[in-house]
Amino acid sequence: MKLNGFNKIKTAVFISGNGTNLRSLIKYSLLRNSKFSINLIISNNYKAKGLQYGNRFKIKKKIINYKNVKKAEKEINKSLKENKIQLICLAGFMKILTKNFIKKFKGKIVNIHPSLLPKYKGLNTHKRAIENGEKFSGCTVHFVNSKLDSGKIIIQKKIRIYKKDTPNTLSKKILKQEHILYPKALTKIISNY
Ligand code: GAR
Repeated sequence: MKLNGFNKIKTAVFISGNGTNLRSLIKYSLLRNSKFSINLIISNNYKAKGLQYGNRFKIKKKIINYKNVKKAEKEINKSLKENKIQLICLAGFMKILTKNFIKKFKGKIVNIHPSLLPKYKGLNTHKRAIENGEKFSGCTVHFVNSKLDSGKIIIQKKIRIYKKDTPNTLSKKILKQEHILYPKALTKIISNY
């Protein structure tokens, strides 16, 4: 993939909630040496707290009505095209993309997941890891394929689970690491373009 005129890969971030990963990606993207820019925020949820970062950093936002998935993805597609998006980052996006959509953007969609994949795909990862007596959990950035949380792993960070950890304390520790890991993962894949 060719770099655009500003030498940065034009990236869209898809969110559904708090958007703290979005915030960390935006902040990193503003560093002079970053290899990507955040040009578009897509959300299926107009109440997503993370949408505030669109206002704060003057980034285009698009809220998508997901009542009809086909229509929703058509609208997303249009928006991605209009904004010449080259890379898609899912960051707490709680909708499943269709096989067709994923095929269209093959190798250009990445996701962050709060576990050491392939362990604990899906939801409630921290609770399940603690209940199973795991000594470690962590976070993973991976390419998105048509199976849930199963695409090729780009990078992972391992985090110790202590006896005193609850799903809440563990989630906070992991989220903090996610904020470091996601920009690192993008830098890594873009270097291979
Ligand atoms: C993050 O922990 C992310 O890994 C997780 O949702 C959170 C979003 O936080 N994603 C998933 O569970 C996807 N399966 P954020 O909105 O503050 O970035």
